[in-house]
Amino acid sequence: MTMRTRTLGTTGPQVSALGLGCMGMSALYGDADRAESVATIHAALEAGVTLLDTGDFYAMGHNEMLIGEALRTAPAARREQALVSVKFGALRDPDGNWSGYDGRPDAVKNFAAYSLQRLGVDHIDVYRIARLDAAVPIEETVGAITELIEKGYVRHVGLSEVGAETIRRAAATAPIADLQIEYSLISRGVEQEILPTTRELGISLTAYGVLSRGLISGHFSRDRQLAANDFRAHSPRFQGDNLRHNLNLVDALRKIAEQKGVSVAQIAIAWVLSRGEDIVPLVGARTRERLAESLGALDVTLDEADLAAVEEAVPADAAAGDRYPAEQMTKLDSER
Ligand SMILES: NC(=O)c1ccc[n+]([C@@H]2O[C@H](COP(=O)([O-])OP(=O)(O)OC[C@H]3O[C@@H](n4cnc5c(N)ncnc54)[C@H](OP(=O)(O)O)[C@@H]3O)[C@@H](O)[C@H]2O)c1
Repeated sequence: MTMRTRTLGTTGPQVSALGLGCMGMSALYGDADRAESVATIHAALEAGVTLLDTGDFYAMGHNEMLIGEALRTAPAARREQALVSVKFGALRDPDGNWSGYDGRPDAVKNFAAYSLQRLGVDHIDVYRIARLDAAVPIEETVGAITELIEKGYVRHVGLSEVGAETIRRAAATAPIADLQIEYSLISRGVEQEILPTTRELGISLTAYGVLSRGLISGHFSRDRQLAANDFRAHSPRFQGDNLRHNLNLVDALRKIAEQKGVSVAQIAIAWVLSRGEDIVPLVGARTRERLAESLGALDVTLDEADLAAVEEAVPADAAAGDRYPAEQMTKLDSER
């Protein structure tokens, strides 16, 4: 199989058209199987996926060490093609509570030093603060990443969940490869101001939550029990009437999927892929089975009639509930 590629920004790297988001292998979606996680990363690399996404705060370094193990045990040719995108800046305590973000230049370099060790690599391919630190101008945070680039420890600057004004300020400081932000059939806020801005500035999107954290994957059910530490147990979209409403949207999508002989997840991923060559969906598969399903989306072509049917099944503002709990919504520069 030949993997399609896309380029991140005007100066960024060429990456596989689908990236693998590794977060769920360590945190936020309940228990994951370590051996299966490593096997999934290996299978992704074998299929030609070159972009692996993580955050240093995903189970406090666990996710980076997992990726490090997968890279160490992968065939050399695959390891050499892999690009690792890392988010930093989230502050947590031993109980896992979140207490803010730190984008001070010294902190950025400190975070990077630990990440390089945990990943077992000599450079990070794309480095970004997970959320804007409101107390530190973005120019200073990006400036620190630029210093790391000059020293060879980082290759490219990325952004995460920031709005148009911050994107412009960051892009005036250094070339930006990509903005990582939630984008899916039911999270389309980015289309209003953010996507036109990234397009104007030649910045790509790495889209996460393409399956809305499993909600629109076709595999989520109304009666699924979630552990207390599962993000979805607290996500407005997964609660009561909201969940019922959102799963009705999935049922409408399922009809289109069935007509095309593909799965719901494949339609949802293919729709994001169809939004433009500047968009790279990060799929959160944590098993080889889910990965294979996700990769199948690369073979799904949505023609004009399909796209119209999808729009009708899931109109732009159809979702019930915000994409984050209220307190976390306030941390999103992208939602201001
Ligand atoms: N920048 C940011 O603020 C930010 C925020 C969140 C995530 N991210 C990054 O984006 C990546 C992707 O986000 P996400 O994990 O929330 O995305 P997602 O792909 O929308 O959701 C992944 C979840 O969907 C379920 N799923 C069902 N069918 C699937 C299939 N065929 N392929 C993949 N998943 C399927 C999986 O649950 P089951 O395993 O239970 O089936 C999995 O836990 C993360 O891993 C992380 O690297 C970034």
